Amino acid sequence: MNDHEVNIGILGLGTVGTGVAKILLTQQELLKTRSTLTFRLKSIAEIDWETKRDLNLDGVQCLTDARRVISDPEIDIVVETIGGTEPAFSFICEALRNRKHVVTANKALIATRGRELFKIAKENGVDLLFEASVGGGIPIIKGLREGLVANKIEKMYGILNGTSNYILTRMHQDELEFDQALKEAQAKGFAEADPTLDVGGGDAAHKLTILASLAASGMVDFNALYVEGITAVTKLDISFAKSFGYTIKLLATYRSLANGLDLRVHPTLIPNSHLLAAVNKELNAIFVKGDFVGDTMFYGPGAGERPTGSAIVSDIVDLSRDLLLKEGEQVSNRVIDPEQSVKVVPISEIYNRFYLRFFTFDKPGVLSKIAGVLGENNISISSMVQLETHGKDNYVPIVLLTHEASEAAMEKALQEIGKFEFVKENYLRLRLFEDLG
Ligand SMILES: NC(=O)c1ccc[n+]([C@@H]2O[C@H](COP(=O)([O-])OP(=O)(O)OC[C@H]3O[C@@H](n4cnc5c(N)ncnc54)[C@H](OP(=O)(O)O)[C@@H]3O)[C@@H](O)[C@H]2O)c1
Repeated sequence: MNDHEVNIGILGLGTVGTGVAKILLTQQELLKTRSTLTFRLKSIAEIDWETKRDLNLDGVQCLTDARRVISDPEIDIVVETIGGTEPAFSFICEALRNRKHVVTANKALIATRGRELFKIAKENGVDLLFEASVGGGIPIIKGLREGLVANKIEKMYGILNGTSNYILTRMHQDELEFDQALKEAQAKGFAEADPTLDVGGGDAAHKLTILASLAASGMVDFNALYVEGITAVTKLDISFAKSFGYTIKLLATYRSLANGLDLRVHPTLIPNSHLLAAVNKELNAIFVKGDFVGDTMFYGPGAGERPTGSAIVSDIVDLSRDLLLKEGEQVSNRVIDPEQSVKVVPISEIYNRFYLRFFTFDKPGVLSKIAGVLGENNISISSMVQLETHGKDNYVPIVLLTHEASEAAMEKALQEIGKFEFVKENYLRLRLFEDLG
C-alpha cells in the first residue's frame, strides 16, 4: 500500500468479477470520500479474454495466469471470483500465505473448506472476507458481525436461493408445474444449466452454514445440516397450501436450542401473514431475531453482477482500513473462529408441524388406517382434505396437517404408511413454519 492507495487484483472476470471491476473503475471518487483511500484495480487474471465485456480496462493489467496476481508484491487485496473448488481453493491459500487479504463470493468453498482457509488466514495475519457469499447484495454478514454484535442470535429464517424462490413463485402465481417453472428460470438466466445445487437445497445449505457459523461464533459442519430441495413439490401441493392460507418457500432455518443448533433447509409452508411469504421471484430475505434487538429482516437481490459486486467492494473497503494500521496490528475479529466447533441437533430430535400428501386408492377405510398409524406414533391431525376427483388411475389425493410431532415419530409413521398397498409411493411430507415464542 502506497500513500493510501490500495492495489487490488481480481481472479476471474465473469458475472461477479465484472461487477467488482465496474465499481472500482467508476465509483473511485465516492469510495475515496467515504474511506479517504484510493482504490486502484491493478490487475485481472481471466482465462477467457475473447468474451466481449462492457468495460474499459485501459491501465489495468489483463493477465491469464492467476499466480502473477497472487505473487505481485504491489497487490494488497486479492478478489477471488472464479468459483468452484479448484483452482480457487489453491489460489486463495497461496494469496493468504503471501500475506494478502482475500475477498471471495465463493459460498461453497467457505461452507465446506472454511475451517482450513480461516486457519491459514489467521496464521498469516490477514483476513478472508465473504460478504457476497450469502444474500448477494444484502449486507447480512456485516449485519450479523457488526450491527447485531451485541446480540445472541436466537433464530434466523432465510430465503437464500433465488432460483428456487423464482420457481416456487411462478408455481404459486401462475400455476406452473415444477418442470415448466424451472425451464422458464433457465431461459431467463436465473437458473444454471445444471440446477441441482439450487433446487436440491445445497446452495441454501452452504449459505446457512456460513450464517450459522457467524451467529454461533464457530465453524458449523456443513454435513450436519438436514437438507431437502423443492423437486418433489407439485402444483397440487401449492394449491392445497394456498387453501390452508400458506405459501411454500425453500426456507433455511436456524434456531438456537438448549442442546445445540437446529439447522435445516427444506420446503416449508409459511403463513401468508408472515413477511417471508411475500418475498417473491429471485429476491432473498433473512429474518433474524436477536435477544436484545428483537425481530429484524434483511431483504434484497440475492445474486447478479451489480449486487454481488457491491457486496465484494464493501469487503474491500472494510479491509483497507486495516491496511492503514501498522504491521502486526491487523488482528480483527471478522472471521469465523476455525478452532471452535458448533453442535448441531440431529433432525430426528426436532419437533415440527407437518403437511402430508398421499395419493391413495379410493376405497373405504383408507383414511382411518392412515390416521391409526399416525395416532399410534403420537401424531395428531389438525386438518384434513380429501379430494373427490379421481386421477386417471383411480387414486385420490389426501392432505393432512398435523399438530406438533417429533421428526423421528413422523419418519417411523411414514415408513409404516408407505407399506399400505393402497398408498402410492410418491407421498410428500413438508414442514410448517412455526415461529413459536
Ligand atoms: N453470479 C452470481 O450472481 C453470484 C452471486 C453470489 C455468489 N457468486 C459466487 O461467485 C463466484 C463466481 O461466480 P460467477 O457467477 O461470477 O461465475 P462466472 O461468471 O462463471 O465467472 C468465473 C470466471 O472465472 C474464469 N476462470 C475460470 N478459471 C479461471 C482461472 N484459472 N483463472 C482465471 N479465471 C478463471 C471463468 O472463465 P471461463 O468462463 O472461461 O471458465 C469465468 O470468466 C462463485 O463462487 C459463485 O458461487 C455468484
